[in-house]
Amino acid sequence: MKIMHVVGARPNFMKIAPLMREMAKQPKVFKQVLVHTGQHYDPMMSQIFFDDLGLPRPDINLEVGSGTHAWQTAHIMLRFETVVQEYLPDWVVVPGDVNSTLACALVCSKLGIKVAHIESGLRSFDRTMPEEINRVLTDQIADLLFTTSPDANENLLREGIDPEKIFFVGNIMIDTLVTLLPLANKRWSEIKSLWALNDFMLVTLHRPSNVDNLTNLQEIMETLKKLSKTIKIIFPLHPRTAKLIEQHALYEKIHNFLLTNPLGYIDFLALESHARLVLTDSGGVQEETTFLGVPCLTIRPNTERPITISHGTNRLVENKKEKILLAVYQALNNLTNAKKIPELWDGRTAKRIVDVFLNL
Ligand code: UD1
Ligand code: UDP
Repeated sequence: MKIMHVVGARPNFMKIAPLMREMAKQPKVFKQVLVHTGQHYDPMMSQIFFDDLGLPRPDINLEVGSGTHAWQTAHIMLRFETVVQEYLPDWVVVPGDVNSTLACALVCSKLGIKVAHIESGLRSFDRTMPEEINRVLTDQIADLLFTTSPDANENLLREGIDPEKIFFVGNIMIDTLVTLLPLANKRWSEIKSLWALNDFMLVTLHRPSNVDNLTNLQEIMETLKKLSKTIKIIFPLHPRTAKLIEQHALYEKIHNFLLTNPLGYIDFLALESHARLVLTDSGGVQEETTFLGVPCLTIRPNTERPITISHGTNRLVENKKEKILLAVYQALNNLTNAKKIPELWDGRTAKRIVDVFLNL
């Protein structure tokens, strides 16, 4: 079986690495090719994950880079079409909900090449999010849909997807976490002393609704500044966020408020698993904190991952100063963090996906 895996942006690497490793155990069955679209390209948004996760070098890099949504999606499609026509894979595997996911799925559907979508069926029901469009359309095109939670199956069935194509396999990002947590724990003492960490809050933000809107970003930075008087803050900056903070001069060096470059997976996981609290708008971070039992506040009006609220440690917060302050103070004072790990978030999702392919 010729399998072509697609990665493009940071959260894709954690979802493809375990699957490639599992398929590599059966080289006579699976012939694997890895395509990187180049949507993310800075060394700390791309190369570091190949090193940390043990991903093989991409066989092909489309080097698409940044642009508007239409430009980026169209250029990935044009370049990917040539690659698919040359390799003629039996299956193309696309993870998540980024522009690379939809662009490559769409190319395959036009060429009659089968598409498997990892992390199908998640819905925020907010069509102003570019990711929601990518999710809905990719799921309509896909021939195999692998889901992380039962609510995703319900969403897909409601949208008329044939139940025979849908497989509830669990969360493959958690496979990566389970594999690398021991290494992250080893790194912890070094990171702890490097940044003199004791109690601290980890922050990640990159959603356009929080960072592209100057008023919102200003308000969030003011709030973080105030919070740093109560708890130390570590904020690894996504390049989108870094550019805006620099452009609008929204940061001055202050005690207990540390901005860093984006971190590699192992360093980030070391921080995430030892944080007193995480403040984020990331999809993957909502899931990882649920697994780790670390309290998480998500600055968004909705989430496509409701299981992180119903089962996990996640809570949504409006992007307003008073709301964030109140939620953080409440979380810091709440010592009981109920921890219930969702079903099949057990580190064995890649194996279940491989079994589906073997039984086709
Ligand atoms: C993308 C995904 C988002 C995902 C996020 C993960 C889409 C529509 N968005 O958002 O769903 O949560 O990745 O991190 O696919 N940039 C760099 N260096 C890089 C990459 C980006 O400087 O290596 C800068 C560029 O200025 C670029 C901007 O970041 O214009 C945004 O990058 P882009 O990939 O378009 O969207 P993200 O915000 O990263
Ligand atoms: N992550 C990382 N370094 C960072 C920030 C995040 O390795 O500095 C990891 C995080 O652990 C998770 C993934 O990146 O596995 C989430 O990616 P991101 O937040 O960029 O995208 P999203 O999940 O929101 O699409």
